[in-house]
Amino acid sequence: MTLIKACIFDLDGVIVDTAHYHFLAWKRLADELGIAFTPEDNERLKGVSRMASMDILLEVGGVTLSDHDKERLANKKNTWFVDYVERMVPEEIFPGVKQLIEKLKEKGIKIGLASSSKNAKTVLQRLYVEPLFDVVVDGTMVKNSKPDPEIFLLAASRLGIAPADCVVFEDAEAGVEAALAAGMKCVGIGSRDQLGKADRVIRTTSDFQAADLATLAH
Ligand code: BG6
Ligand code: MG
Repeated sequence: MTLIKACIFDLDGVIVDTAHYHFLAWKRLADELGIAFTPEDNERLKGVSRMASMDILLEVGGVTLSDHDKERLANKKNTWFVDYVERMVPEEIFPGVKQLIEKLKEKGIKIGLASSSKNAKTVLQRLYVEPLFDVVVDGTMVKNSKPDPEIFLLAASRLGIAPADCVVFEDAEAGVEAALAAGMKCVGIGSRDQLGKADRVIRTTSDFQAADLATLAH
């Protein structure tokens, strides 16, 4: 039996509720464009890159724009998102996340962060948790966004751990698909309806205990 050697965490929606800030910023842009945009539509944006999210939003609204306009509007959305991030306080980290990571480290488990966001480093700094991670991989370092496995494979290779010995924590359907395509185990954070393909689905990150890793051994 092979034990899990590394845990790779998504950021937005797994470590902190920045997924909600992304939603609020996209919703504001949708309102400006006269696009009806619901939390259900937002599920499709989770985990995917900024420009891929822009395309999904326009598809929802049946709107076509030039690349130049798409770029301009995505930048506008990012300005609003960054405003939220700048007002964040360290206490916004989800309860139990820090303790879980510390416990995993005590067991000798390597810890990675793999986020599609180009703002990941800033969010980690706001929470004062950057030093908890052995490796941080973000949207500035990959070509292909989740559901492509690139980001998780890069995190595993930088950690020096084989993909099969990694478990990913993800709140996005695209992220669960990416983790499985990378040949990794996956714990879904959220609802079974959306994340049912994961090896295990829990409501919040703190529902996972370090001892639960043994159940994911293969
Ligand atoms: C992911 C979020 O983590 O990052 C997506 O789940 C977001 O909602 C994506 O679109 C890109 O983020 P950013 O900060 O680079 O626009
Ligand atoms: Mg996420």
